[in-house]
Amino acid sequence: MQLVTTRDGSHTLYVPHLDEHYHSTYGAITESRHVFIDAGFLYRTDGPKISVLEVGFGTGLNALLTCITARDKQVKVTYHALEKFPVDLVLAEKLNYTSRLPNVPDAESFFAGIHQASWNATTMVHPFFYLHKIRDDLTDFQPEFMYDLVFFDAFAPEKQPEMWTQDIFNRLYNNLSQDGILTTYCVKGTVKRMLKTAGFRIEKLPGPPGKREMLRGTK
Ligand SMILES: C[S@@+](CC[C@H](N)C(=O)[O-])C[C@H]1O[C@@H](n2cnc3c(N)ncnc32)[C@H](O)[C@@H]1O
Repeated sequence: MQLVTTRDGSHTLYVPHLDEHYHSTYGAITESRHVFIDAGFLYRTDGPKISVLEVGFGTGLNALLTCITARDKQVKVTYHALEKFPVDLVLAEKLNYTSRLPNVPDAESFFAGIHQASWNATTMVHPFFYLHKIRDDLTDFQPEFMYDLVFFDAFAPEKQPEMWTQDIFNRLYNNLSQDGILTTYCVKGTVKRMLKTAGFRIEKLPGPPGKREMLRGTK
């Protein structure tokens, strides 16, 4: 796994055997904010609390930005993050996300709290952010919880087709609350069709830099 600097100055990881990055090389923080925070979290949040499932915890960047936004908006977040291959802590400590967020109070302690949190246990990172990292394989994962929001952030379907199946989208749909939403950076026709078949109403939204579009599905 290699540390790579993206165009907005924030890091991502490159996986040589898949020839795939964890984020857009046009900007990791920019993409994460655009697809998951703005089109997902801020769009869906309309009350004092929200439950989120992230598919692919990876570097913890989506978790960090959600954790910061939860504190700023005073929304209580229950955040479940699924990951089969956790990033090594030594590598996670090299990621420059907190130095790219210099004006955000507590970003460093939040990021450390997110990475140091035990797997398969609930940790209060701050009173508005409860994190439960689930070490499991998405293809076996049977959600036991109802979510308001799903961040679907798997590697691309061409690289990991087993993560983008009708069965998986049906399961996620069944475990979403009414008006729950799923956002993803991927706009592939096959993905759109699977989401529709699962029952989602689909919107194509402008994508982050380097991508024309992204998808949001609503139950
Ligand atoms: C695009 S990256 C996620 C980026 C992440 N959201 C972040 O903010 O850094 C995809 C993630 O899915 C994970 N993954 C791959 N196969 C998986 C599987 N079968 N089940 C669960 N997670 C998997 C990878 O290890 C990787 O962390």
